[in-house]
Amino acid sequence: MFLQTFNRFITLAFIAAVFIQCSSETKPTGLVTDKAMVVSAREEASAIGIEILKKGGNAFDAMVATELALAVAYPFAGNIGGGGFMVYRKANGDVGSIDYREKAPSAAHRDLYLDENGDVIPCKSTLGATAVGVPGTIAGIVEVHDKLGSLPFETILAPVIALARKGVVVTEKQAKSMASQRNIIAKISGEKSLFAQSYKKGDTIKYTALAETLTAIAKGGKDAFYKGEIATKIAQFIQERGGYITEEDLANYEAVWRQPIIFKYKDLKIISMSPPSSGGVTMSQIFKMMEPYPLETYGHNSEKTIQLFTEAARRAYADRNYFLGDPDYSPIPLDIILSNSYLKKRMSNFSFDKATPSSEVSHGDIQIIESEQTTHYSIIDQQGNAVSVTTTLNGAFGSKLYQEELGFFFNNEMDDFSAKAGVSNMFGLIGAEANSIAPGKRMLSSMTPTIVEKEGQLWMVVGTPGGSTIITAVVQTILNAYEFKLSMQEAVNAPRFHHQWLPDILVFEPKAFSTSTIKDLKNKGYLISEKSNTIIGKVDAIRVLKDGRLEAGADPRGDDIAVGF
Ligand code: DON
Repeated sequence: MFLQTFNRFITLAFIAAVFIQCSSETKPTGLVTDKAMVVSAREEASAIGIEILKKGGNAFDAMVATELALAVAYPFAGNIGGGGFMVYRKANGDVGSIDYREKAPSAAHRDLYLDENGDVIPCKSTLGATAVGVPGTIAGIVEVHDKLGSLPFETILAPVIALARKGVVVTEKQAKSMASQRNIIAKISGEKSLFAQSYKKGDTIKYTALAETLTAIAKGGKDAFYKGEIATKIAQFIQERGGYITEEDLANYEAVWRQPIIFKYKDLKIISMSPPSSGGVTMSQIFKMMEPYPLETYGHNSEKTIQLFTEAARRAYADRNYFLGDPDYSPIPLDIILSNSYLKKRMSNFSFDKATPSSEVSHGDIQIIESEQTTHYSIIDQQGNAVSVTTTLNGAFGSKLYQEELGFFFNNEMDDFSAKAGVSNMFGLIGAEANSIAPGKRMLSSMTPTIVEKEGQLWMVVGTPGGSTIITAVVQTILNAYEFKLSMQEAVNAPRFHHQWLPDILVFEPKAFSTSTIKDLKNKGYLISEKSNTIIGKVDAIRVLKDGRLEAGADPRGDDIAVGF
């Protein structure tokens, strides 16, 4: 009798312990909703995404709406003159991704940005018509809609067009970013340009020309942008200003479905973008190099965590810059550089006693610039479909070339190519043969739209802008939630750091890390930058809680906002 009661007691205690352990979950601190959520850089865009879901659309319809709403409400990075990448996971577990990255015009060639002495011509790949790659955004969203959408295309575009006509209110952060770019936009696009005017917080800007362009696209789909009147106008406009894009380049543009990069980290399955983005490959290398270490016991943003992360990132970025480029142009030895044995060997000279100088990992001499001019949004719909999208013009307002008549900025994505081996681009990234310029080729990206499964279930949708810092910011956000048990919102808020092999500098967000940690790291040979204006990433993420509700992580570094129901 006693034994029976005791056994029952033990069994119940065991069940309770398992229950407590399994149900223990970090308390959410971000917005929590029951069914669906969109997190993006602007409230208007998140709200339009949700409006489409409420009309019965799915996550793919909401993607189309959010992408275009960002082109209206967040012209800094949201675009129809740029490109991006989307990773998805359907409610049934199917995963996939689409590449709507810009392409080099057919007139482009390896030495496009070099002078007669073989030196890089300043600004030619960053400012004005010469910097523009063939845009991919409209091809991308139309392709996604054709294959995976459910509502009519015109229904999805209607609220976006209405927003463009009604206008968008300038936020304080937006007023600042516009003011900082006004002179250069005036120089490139003319004093009369819509974006060469002064705006202050609270002003409303109406985007009438863009509304017309979007109306044509709503009716005519992909061809309305890539063929016919709009295409003729784009090609003429670019060529009159010395650029290279032809009507044929536009007509030939295709978005490409690609196999995502999928890897395991402990009990997580991480699904992210494959080349021509470096995001998934480099992230996988960083995670795999760290996996053998008990990170959880080191503590969040502790000296050991920072060291281990930095050394993994240093080695991964060295590989990125050498091996990665457009896979349609040169083969990438993914099976080798993603293998456990290779990555173990890469870390064999790592020690907690001192930094490994980047000169011992590989070569080069460059400088870093942090910036936030891309944008990421995360969506989960009421059926459980998840969409993770990062899209960009590259620089702030891209090439600063704004076409008044069509109402949008053109990208300066050509700068993501390696203009000359060993010479850095605007993110301080150097490249090699794999990322040299060729006609029709896609330039290497760092964009890392990502979806994470935990124990086989959808757990997180995450991504960020930030140029070369994108990859490290995404890895840190996942680690913050998984290893250090932060809520989604805390994981996004937490201070970040970055290392990209070259320059050999460990960058910290300012005033957020302990002075003794920084001092110890300096003593171990780390070269540290802690500038007051450094922002690393603007992460927009969603975590699925155990009870199925959704927690937002909307980055307070921007105007980013989650909307849901
Ligand atoms: O594709 C890339 O990696 C870059 N063009 C992204 C640029 C970016 O994130 C700018 N903003 N921070």
